[in-house]
Amino acid sequence: MKGSLLYEGKAKKVYHVEGKPEQLVLSYKNDATAFNGKKKDQFEGKGRLNNLITSRIFEHLHQQHIPSHFLKSLNDNEQLVQKTTIIPLEVVVRNIAAGSLTRRLAIQEKTVLQPPIIELFYKNDDLDDPLINDDHAKRLANVTEHDLDNIKILALKINEILKRLFKQADLELVDFKLEFGRLHDGNIVLADEISPDTCRLWDAATGEKMDKDVFREDIGDLIATYETILQRLEESICAK
Ligand code: C5P
Repeated sequence: MKGSLLYEGKAKKVYHVEGKPEQLVLSYKNDATAFNGKKKDQFEGKGRLNNLITSRIFEHLHQQHIPSHFLKSLNDNEQLVQKTTIIPLEVVVRNIAAGSLTRRLAIQEKTVLQPPIIELFYKNDDLDDPLINDDHAKRLANVTEHDLDNIKILALKINEILKRLFKQADLELVDFKLEFGRLHDGNIVLADEISPDTCRLWDAATGEKMDKDVFREDIGDLIATYETILQRLEESICAK
């Protein structure tokens, strides 16, 4: 049923589905990249972990009535999604100061951000994904004021749902990145992935970093860390 390759990104390959032009297969790769591709490595089993973690999270979001591209997990590395036109924005939600925010604005790491801060970045490798404002987004990403309001409302709803989910897994959701896409009818839905590659997760008890910062900062075993995230998520979802 998987058709020809449509696109290969840094973390996933995207395939057509034979006879179903409105669907795509996402195949998660074992590659890890950071700093816009300047740091690269491969980790056996990473694709499986990010596929399974993303699938669990999108199933949970679906139950909470968040519209997304996700249809179902197909196997260890692949999932079936609805085809969307990706809106070229990275929507970052921050609950606790970390990463680029601390460097850009000299806000102390671990400062609690209440209400959460939403930032928009323009998805453009050549420009290193620059931080942009709403006016830039309207021009560069072809979205209206109303679209941006919808995207931000959805991002904050997702934040509340995920904060609760990760809390049950003894994890603090520090920040994360979302992408949105447009279905053929024009409706905007959550797309891409939500995994330890796209979230900062700190152990609620010890503060230990349990996400891609392990790779960015060379401070631990990426596969063992992602395996722990999957296990804890499954336990907390099953316990409900
Ligand atoms: O680097 P920065 O602090 O801006 O990242 C904020 C959040 O967005 C982090 O959880 C990071 O993993 C995620 N992110 C991402 N893809 C990018 C940039 C950031 O998933 N291209």
